[in-house]
Amino acid sequence: MTGILEGKTAIITGAASGIGEATTKLFAAEGARVLAVDLPGTPLAEVHADTPNVVLMDQDVTTADAAANIVGKAVEEFGGIDILFNNAGTVGKGGELETFDDDDWDFVLGLNLTSVYKITKAAYPHLKKSNAPRVINVGSVRTDFADAGAAAYTATKHAVAGLTKVIACELGPFGGTANYLQPGAIITGITKPAFDMMPEFAVYWTDLAPTGRLGVPEDIANGVLFFASEESSFMSGTGLYIDGGATCHN
Ligand SMILES: NC(=O)c1ccc[n+]([C@@H]2O[C@H](COP(=O)([O-])OP(=O)(O)OC[C@H]3O[C@@H](n4cnc5c(N)ncnc54)[C@H](O)[C@@H]3O)[C@@H](O)[C@H]2O)c1
Repeated sequence: MTGILEGKTAIITGAASGIGEATTKLFAAEGARVLAVDLPGTPLAEVHADTPNVVLMDQDVTTADAAANIVGKAVEEFGGIDILFNNAGTVGKGGELETFDDDDWDFVLGLNLTSVYKITKAAYPHLKKSNAPRVINVGSVRTDFADAGAAAYTATKHAVAGLTKVIACELGPFGGTANYLQPGAIITGITKPAFDMMPEFAVYWTDLAPTGRLGVPEDIANGVLFFASEESSFMSGTGLYIDGGATCHN
C-alpha cells in the first residue's frame, strides 16, 4: 500500500515527545523520509527505534548555527525538503506582566518564534524547488485568545499566525502552502506534569471541550498530515483548531 506522503521529505522539530513524536511516526508510516530533530539528551533514538525512514538529529533549534545545521542535514540526507514542521516549543514559566522574568520572555520568543523564522528562512531555497512545498507551524488556542499570566507564550503563538500568513503569501507562487495548528489541551510532555500536579486543570479542560476529553498527540498529528498532503492544497495562511470544541464557548 502506498502512503500519502510517499516520495516526500520532511523536517520535524521537537520529534522526541508529544505532537512531534506522533507526527514523525505518522509521516514515516505514510511514506515520508523524516529528519527528526530534538535537543541533545532527549530519548529521540529510543522513541524512534522502530520508526522507518527516519534520520535522527540532536540539535537545539535555538543555537546560532541551528537553522544551517538542520537544513544542511536534510539536504545532505534527502537531496531536498518538501515539508517543514516547526513544532518545538515551550510554555515557559509565565507570570503576571509586572513581574515577568525577562529571561523567560527571551527564552520563549527565541524558541517559539525566532527559531521558526530562522529555520524557515534557511529552508526557503529548498522548499521553493519542491513541487508542493509545505510549511506547518504550531499555534495554540492562545493564537486567538488570552488569559492572564502567559504573556510570552500568547505573544509568540499570535505571532506564529502572522509569520505563517506571510510565508503563505510568499510560497504561493511556488505552489506552496503554509498553515498552523491550534491545539487545545493535549496530553504531552509540556502539559502532563501540570495535569498530574493539578488534576483540576485537567478537569477544567476536559469539561470545556464538548467532546469531553483531553487531546492526545495523534489528534494533532492527523491535522499536520492533512496540511502536508495534497488534500489541503487550497488551504493556506490559515489555522486549524483541534481542541475538542473547547473554543466554541468563546
Ligand atoms: N500540549 C498542548 O496542550 C499544546 C497546546 C497548544 C500548543 N502546543 C504546542 O505544541 C508544540 C509541541 O509541544 P508538545 O505539547 O508536543 O510538548 P512536548 O514537550 O511533548 O514536546 C516538545 C518537544 O520539543 C523539544 N524541544 C524543546 N526545546 C527544544 C529546542 N530548543 N530544540 C529542539 N527541540 C526542543 C522537547 O525536547 C520536546 O521533545 C509546541 O510548540 C507547543 O507550544 C501544545
